[in-house]
Amino acid sequence: MYKELKYAEGIPLVDEEKNEMVVTPWEVRGKVDYERLIREFGTQPLTEELLQRIAKHTGEFHLQLRRKLVFSHRDLDVVLDLYEKGIKFVLYTGRGPSGPVHIGHLVPWIFTKHLQDKFNTRLYFQMTDDEKFVVEDELKLEETKNFGYENALDLIALGFKPENTFIIFDVEDVGLLYDLALEVAKRITYSTAKATFGFQDSTNIGWIFWPAIQAVPCFIHAKLTGENVPALIPAAIDQDPYWRVTRDIAQKLGYYKPAQIHCRFLPGLGIGGKMSSSEPETTIFTIDPPEVVKRKIWNAFTGGRATLEEQKKLGATPDICTVFQYYYYLFEEDDKKLTERERQCRNGEMLCGECKTELTERVNKFLAEHRKKREKARNIVEKFRIKR
Ligand code: TRP
Repeated sequence: MYKELKYAEGIPLVDEEKNEMVVTPWEVRGKVDYERLIREFGTQPLTEELLQRIAKHTGEFHLQLRRKLVFSHRDLDVVLDLYEKGIKFVLYTGRGPSGPVHIGHLVPWIFTKHLQDKFNTRLYFQMTDDEKFVVEDELKLEETKNFGYENALDLIALGFKPENTFIIFDVEDVGLLYDLALEVAKRITYSTAKATFGFQDSTNIGWIFWPAIQAVPCFIHAKLTGENVPALIPAAIDQDPYWRVTRDIAQKLGYYKPAQIHCRFLPGLGIGGKMSSSEPETTIFTIDPPEVVKRKIWNAFTGGRATLEEQKKLGATPDICTVFQYYYYLFEEDDKKLTERERQCRNGEMLCGECKTELTERVNKFLAEHRKKREKARNIVEKFRIKR
């Protein structure tokens, strides 16, 4: 669908071959190579020293830090330097509402909430119903707006604090964004946008202007409060092209360059690649009923052997197993228990059926709770909206 945009200079990771990595703001597929992402996007690896520095302020090593699920950044050190001098920061992240939320989307949001809690800082959350409308041929505006609202429920269900969380629904809230978007747009040339995003003659002009809108929440805190502080963006690395153009113009507008911290993608339940809505059978949506979750996990790609006998004798390979990844990313908090599961898997004591059954139980338990909170969120969405 996005073929026409795949040859941008600014987006180096393009390959036609099957299961080769493709990572652009509109498409992520294939087996993800994180070191190559850091190299080719030109971001910084998240060093042990920086991990320690975050933990010093948060007072704990969050699961996503200790398991290195956050792996790369831009200017996190600068933001921490400022913080240590008494200049706070705000968090900014977002979602393109093109469908229901899956558990892979929750990974960076969970980390964002941890940062909000520990640094007691504001979160600006952009729901890009406008972006998804201009970019996706087949979606109507009513649909992206509705997904935006539904997706916001998933965000709120994670427990964000209403007094510190400001959701921007682009289409409805554009009045708040528009003056800054114009300031941004005026300073980005078509040739830069084209080189960064790969726009073509056939690209609609809504899409060409759109990156200005994604830049705005980096600066909106200053507009709303008069307090000029940097924004730290926890997100997946595929959004980096947006921040590159934003960083280029930030100082011209009198603002800090936005900093970033990047999470790994939760893999899908198939072979290689991230969890992706375009492959629903290997993706667990938060609204999937228990029997659907069970079926999807049951069909997951594992590191198991061809036969039970072989597996008992030779053990299995958690490194390539998607089921094990789910424990690693989300569903086993306890490091000791995770290591024990890995050991039992490797030496053939724990078979795939047992491991899948347990994961199904955990995922369904989590989702049952999540859905309750999600329904409750319907009554309080207004409290989270940027305009009140
Ligand atoms: N463009 C993003 C998407 O398609 C949505 C988004 C807007 C976003 N602002 C963001 C994502 C900030 C991460 C951080 O998903």
